[in-house]
Amino acid sequence: MSSFVRSLLVACLVALASASTLPFGSYDNTDIKTYHLGSLSDYHSPENFLDNDFPESCELKQVHILQRHGSRNPTAGTKAGSAGGIQAFENRLTNGTISFNSSISDNAFNFVSSWEPIILEKNADLLSDRGRYQMFDLGVQNYLRYTDLINDKDFKFQVNTAAQDRVVESAEWYMSGMLGRSYVNETTFQYVPEDSSASINTLSGNDDCKNYENYNSTSSAVVKAYLKKALEAPRKRLSEYLVDGQEFTTDDVVNMFSLCAYENALQGESDFCDLFTPTEFRAWEYSYDLKFSYENGPSNPWTQPVGAAFANNMANQILKLVNGTTSEDDQQIFLAFTHDSHITTVETSLGFFPDTTPSKPLAPSFNYYNQSLKTSQYVPFGGNLITEVFKCDDDKFYVRHLVNQRTFPLTDCGNGPSGVSDGLCEVNAYLNSDARRDAVFHGIETYKETCGTDEPAFEAMY
Ligand SMILES: *[C@@H]1O[C@H](CO)[C@@H](O)[C@H](O)[C@H]1NC(C)=O
Ligand SMILES: *[C@@H]1O[C@H](CO)[C@@H](O)[C@H](O)[C@H]1NC(C)=O
Ligand SMILES: *[C@@H]1O[C@H](CO)[C@@H](O)[C@H](O)[C@H]1NC(C)=O
Ligand SMILES: *[C@@H]1O[C@H](CO)[C@@H](O)[C@H](O)[C@H]1NC(C)=O
Ligand SMILES: *[C@@H]1O[C@H](CO)[C@@H](O)[C@H](O)[C@H]1NC(C)=O
Ligand SMILES: *[C@@H]1O[C@H](CO)[C@@H](O)[C@H](O)[C@H]1NC(C)=O
Repeated sequence: MSSFVRSLLVACLVALASASTLPFGSYDNTDIKTYHLGSLSDYHSPENFLDNDFPESCELKQVHILQRHGSRNPTAGTKAGSAGGIQAFENRLTNGTISFNSSISDNAFNFVSSWEPIILEKNADLLSDRGRYQMFDLGVQNYLRYTDLINDKDFKFQVNTAAQDRVVESAEWYMSGMLGRSYVNETTFQYVPEDSSASINTLSGNDDCKNYENYNSTSSAVVKAYLKKALEAPRKRLSEYLVDGQEFTTDDVVNMFSLCAYENALQGESDFCDLFTPTEFRAWEYSYDLKFSYENGPSNPWTQPVGAAFANNMANQILKLVNGTTSEDDQQIFLAFTHDSHITTVETSLGFFPDTTPSKPLAPSFNYYNQSLKTSQYVPFGGNLITEVFKCDDDKFYVRHLVNQRTFPLTDCGNGPSGVSDGLCEVNAYLNSDARRDAVFHGIETYKETCGTDEPAFEAMY
């Protein structure tokens, strides 16, 4: 075991030991529960980020879009929260295995008698209709925003997409929103395999990093221990509605939150969401923050190198623009479709989450909810990271990031030409900031060395 990984484990164990005394919080906005479902949240922009108006006296020159697929069905598997696990729970609710106490007149489960289950194991992993619509809509919105980089171009747009079906289908809906159905003739799709055959892989990340594959993340143990504690209150409370002698398990509560999330993903509403209080939602939401932080975020020592390949590729395109070795006649809108886990990975490499590190990992119990990586906020269904590059009146180039269409408050590389902190950074200050210098200049090398990966199997523009 490397000393790096050993120190991570020690830090986790210390944090676990001190965990039980931390408080549970709540969230302020009790109206929109479906914004508090971690990576299964409805698409929304982070409220406290900056507006996305184009800066005055600047001209947009280049855009990088890193886009997650839209709302989907649960992933395959039989665990609680997976398609098979949820369907078995649905069966138990409808076949009488779980019995509600009918003498409680305001039983919170009264809706179950007329409820029709819609989560089916056979649809595991597939995009939902709402997901298709979200992608089409985002394609239209970004066509309108980036028209100048799209119209009257006589090259075919290269579209890079992780090869899993729901990601590919998302890319198709998105491009058809952006270009109309003639997208089929105006694009070349580059499919990036989600296994080691791609070698250096910037879109399905850890699936391609051999050493990451061998690394046993502490994530599942941390999340499991957390959920047992965090879901105890709703487990007890909801068990009161069952006949004497029956009790829900922690897994049952996981399945009920999952039904809330996936029924909403498929049809835009779910009675299961009404079973839980805002405090309980917040406790559930944090389990996603733990999962992402320890698996594909700043608590995991492998995240930096895995995300750095994308950061390096993107920086190369920015430098070509700045160096004048690319022109407006070349593709200047880069399109990449991937998974939630890979977006947080890239964001980690770009220095988004400095408050958490492998040696100072996220508290494995509830904290004050002031950590920077809030999964619901960064990677809801349809989540995206957009990087915009401008040339401004002072003849300098500036960079900024949009997270789900609002401007990320970059603070590590100075201000834009306005002189105030508006998320813009001058390009050299951006690239040379301690927060991302290694990733943007050496990310591909680091990926090769750290992951034990060969030369890329194909050329992709990111
Ligand atoms: C009810 O459904 C569960 C889960 O599919 C199954 O294990 C159980 O045997 C079923 N019970 C009855 C009475 O059909
Ligand atoms: C794509 O190009 C082919 C060949 O020129 C043409 O027949 C077809 O109508 C085009 N499809 C769309 C949707 O524009
Ligand atoms: C990871 O954990 C699994 C299950 O506990 C174990 O079988 C495997 O050997 C471990 N791998 C490494 C590289 O430690
Ligand atoms: C239903 O709940 C009431 C009130 O808590 C309790 O007295 C009764 O025993 C319960 N009935 C069954 C069938 O469990
Ligand atoms: C851009 O120019 C700098 C300085 O001349 C050079 O070091 C760098 O390799 C160039 N990068 C690209 C991607 O063109
Ligand atoms: C979160 O708040 C706690 C309590 O005020 C504080 O100790 C901690 O440093 C804060 N963490 C971050 C990342 O701001």
